[in-house]
Amino acid sequence: MEAEAQPFIERYQMHKVEDFFSPLPCVLYEASVAEITLYVVLNGRQHGSDLIGCEAATIATLSAIQKLHPDLIINSGTCGAFRKNGADIADVYIGNKAMFHDRRVPGDDAWDTQSIGNYAVWEGSKDLAQALSFKMGKVTTGSSLDMQPCDLDIIQANGGELKDMEGAAVGFVCSLYQVPILYVKSVTDLCDSGAETFEEFSRNLGRASQALRDANERVIEFLTR
Ligand code: ADE
Repeated sequence: MEAEAQPFIERYQMHKVEDFFSPLPCVLYEASVAEITLYVVLNGRQHGSDLIGCEAATIATLSAIQKLHPDLIINSGTCGAFRKNGADIADVYIGNKAMFHDRRVPGDDAWDTQSIGNYAVWEGSKDLAQALSFKMGKVTTGSSLDMQPCDLDIIQANGGELKDMEGAAVGFVCSLYQVPILYVKSVTDLCDSGAETFEEFSRNLGRASQALRDANERVIEFLTR
C-alpha cells in the first residue's frame, strides 16, 4: 500500500518511473543507494483504493522479477500478529517462513501441502534479524483482513504468527524464480485483542508505517554495509 511505502520513498528521495509496468497497475519507484539500485514496487490502485491481496502481489512480483532481475526481494508491509506470542503494535518482525492459511483441500495430502505453501526465506534473514535485534516469525497469508475460526485453526496448527494478505503469494513467485526473499513486517493489529480488526488496523497504520520505514532503513544499511 502507498501509505506503507510513502515514508520510505520520501526517506530515499525515490523517483517515480512513469508507466513502467503499463498496462499493469503496478507502480515503480527507483533510487541509487550506496552501490545498489533500490526499487520500490507498489501493487497500484483500482476503483479508488490500493490493490491488496494475493492476486495483485503475484502480478507485481512476477513483473518485477521479469523486468528488473532483482538480487533480493524484500516484501515489506504491515500485518496482524498475536498478543499471546508477545507481539505489540508497531513491532517489527523478520519472516522466517511463509504459508497460506485459507486454502484448504481436506482429504488430499499433496494438495493440502501445496495449498499451505511453507515457502523458504532468504538464508541471511536470521543473521540480519539477530544483528538488528528484530524478532522473527512465520508469515501467514490469506485473502481477508478478518479471521475466521478455520483460519485460526490452520494458523495455530502450522505455527503462523504474522497475518498478512500478500506475503506467501510473493514467496510463491520468488520460489519459482529462485529469487531470495526477505520479509520485513510491522504490526498494525493484534488478532487476539478482541478489537475490531479494521478499526485497529486503521488507527495504527501511520505508526506501523513509520516503524517500517525506520526498520527498512536499518535493513538497507545492513545489506549495503
Ligand atoms: N494487514 C494488517 N493487518 C492484517 C491482518 N490482521 N490480516 C491481514 N492483513 C493484515
